[in-house]
Amino acid sequence: MKELNSSYLLHGGDYNPEQWQDYPQILEQDFKLMKDANINTVTVGMFSWAALEPEEGVYHFEWLDDVFDHMNEIGGKVILATPSGARPAWMAEKYPEVLRTNSKGEKLYFGERHNHCFTSPIYRAKVQEFNTLLAKRYGARNNLLMWHVSNEYGGECHCELCQEAFRHWLKNKYGTLKALNDAWWTTFWGHSFNDWSQVHSPSPLGDSNLNGLNLDWRRFVSDQTIDFYSNEIQPLRELTPNVPITTNFMADTFDLIPFRGLDYFEFAKHLDVVSWDCYPAWNNDFETPKHTAMKVAMIDDYFRSLKQQNFLIMESTPSQVNWHPYNRAKRPNVHRLSSLQHIAHGSDSNLYFQWRQSRGASEMFHGAVITHEGSSKTRIFHDVHQVGQDLNAIAEVKDCKHAKAEVAIIFDHENMWALNDTQNYANETKNYWQTLQSHYQYFWEHDIPVDIISPKVDLTAYKLVIDPMHFLMSTKFMDQLYKFTSSGGTVVGTYLSGVVNENDLAYLGGWPEQLQHLFGLKVEETDTLYPNQSNVIEMDGQSFRAQDYCEVISNISAKNLAIYKDDFYAGRPAVTMKKVDHGTSYFIACRTNSDFLNSLYELISKRLELKSDSSIGKDNAAVSIQIRQNSTHKYLFVMNFDETAHQVELDHSMTEMLTNELRNGTVKIPAGGVAIFRDQIV
Ligand code: GAL
Ligand code: ZN
Repeated sequence: MKELNSSYLLHGGDYNPEQWQDYPQILEQDFKLMKDANINTVTVGMFSWAALEPEEGVYHFEWLDDVFDHMNEIGGKVILATPSGARPAWMAEKYPEVLRTNSKGEKLYFGERHNHCFTSPIYRAKVQEFNTLLAKRYGARNNLLMWHVSNEYGGECHCELCQEAFRHWLKNKYGTLKALNDAWWTTFWGHSFNDWSQVHSPSPLGDSNLNGLNLDWRRFVSDQTIDFYSNEIQPLRELTPNVPITTNFMADTFDLIPFRGLDYFEFAKHLDVVSWDCYPAWNNDFETPKHTAMKVAMIDDYFRSLKQQNFLIMESTPSQVNWHPYNRAKRPNVHRLSSLQHIAHGSDSNLYFQWRQSRGASEMFHGAVITHEGSSKTRIFHDVHQVGQDLNAIAEVKDCKHAKAEVAIIFDHENMWALNDTQNYANETKNYWQTLQSHYQYFWEHDIPVDIISPKVDLTAYKLVIDPMHFLMSTKFMDQLYKFTSSGGTVVGTYLSGVVNENDLAYLGGWPEQLQHLFGLKVEETDTLYPNQSNVIEMDGQSFRAQDYCEVISNISAKNLAIYKDDFYAGRPAVTMKKVDHGTSYFIACRTNSDFLNSLYELISKRLELKSDSSIGKDNAAVSIQIRQNSTHKYLFVMNFDETAHQVELDHSMTEMLTNELRNGTVKIPAGGVAIFRDQIV
């Protein structure tokens, strides 16, 4: 794997000089202001195809050459994007097959972005040709830092080329139509296929309710996107074998759920470095900043876990965005705190969308380092300058990894697809990722590192594996989980698990036997509650609320930890524990609030001696302490996400790196404040 050739943390972001070619004084001012803002990296070219190749075969690279030159003059680096995220109008006109077709079979017009066909041989060839030119022209530049391939891959195309590719993918997977018909249970509603040509992607005009088809289509779209990307990077790999490659991943805004369209665990295998675009809604009216911080922490941990290595924040906003329902300005301190939070979790950058606000079009009011006002005299500029200074002060963390996790939470993209698609339970309350967050909370509040891993990852590195709502679960994984537990691991399973196999077919004969052995129980029924209904469970004389999902289980050989108090299953087990050879399994049969999960994880953490490696004492859960370390030093990021000040206790002296002061004893961390301590490993 190629690593980033940079001795410092990256600070900078999307730069769009192609929009300002008629404003030479602005272009000149940009690099001076970048230097003033402590910016060391720009990302260019994301949507520049039309500027670089205004007519087929006519090229204008001069302005891009200038960017490399000017960045060199200020000692800065360039992340160069390939432009496939938005193709020129002439290409759409001349080669209509590059345009995307929607699920109703309508070919889209030229316009917007991120809307090409990912199968089109012409688009694939055009992209390769263009990337070859980029690699030849810029590959030897000493300040080319990395390739940013395309932009936020997503979406799907239903054109005839894609239908054929889908059929080909299915043939490869199933071999025979009989196997496909069996896997999709097509006898239901008489949908059996007797020729491959009859198979069509899911569509509101055709089949949208054949779950096996839907799931395979999701898998195909993910694979085909990765295949398109692999085609894109071929010339880059050939011509610039030492330049690392990334593409920018996404998560949604309010719940910070990984992008639903692609299997990032698979995609990440094809990248050198993971990067993602982060736009949380800080200071909203529905949760505390502490809660937002916990959600950001978890998604950062997920992106770090994709390759078990440091990642990059490719985009974030220095102030507000323009596309949230309400576009709040970042409060004082929030920019600093939120930027350093990413670094604390393993990011090696804080990059922005965008350097300068566009003068027109849809993103003209999106936050930027330089606003329409045009100077460095804004609060935003000051905040950005400050973050640049902070990143310079802590540059040595670049070579440090986030502290090793002994706790893993399983997340599976395929499971998310199948669970979201299944017509059962309640669409409003499935909340798979949000459920993982409620399990994550205890560990975040106690500064215990957590990895978010796919079921395909080796579990033996962990002491505790938490596997909630694992609806689509293969028997292979059940065996793996059993093995992990019997050889000494601890596993936590929950309701809505082990319901269907990898083809989305129900397990016959009741709850799968492997799970019965693992948890010592049988799931008999799943009760889906209305949002205003609840049950109560009791553990050690304490009552907790259960809601949304309550499974009725019969205990075969587990110990009851909590029982239901209400309804026809009152007195039946709600939470159980079982010794499995050298390990232990826990099963939570109903959805509980974090108060219950915190009590349970307190118990489990004590038993497994899970704790933070931090020697710093804290008295409030809204103060998060994350550690990055190398063989000689630990760097403790102490971040106060509360709206009041808190104190932390140092039991020996350490340097606080942002102020470069030696500190010991009680240290006050103001509301929204952050301190970073360097601690020598003795
Ligand atoms: C990202 C995108 C950028 C810009 C930004 C605005 O999703 O990659 O090009 O549109 O959002 O927040
Ligand atoms: Zn297509």
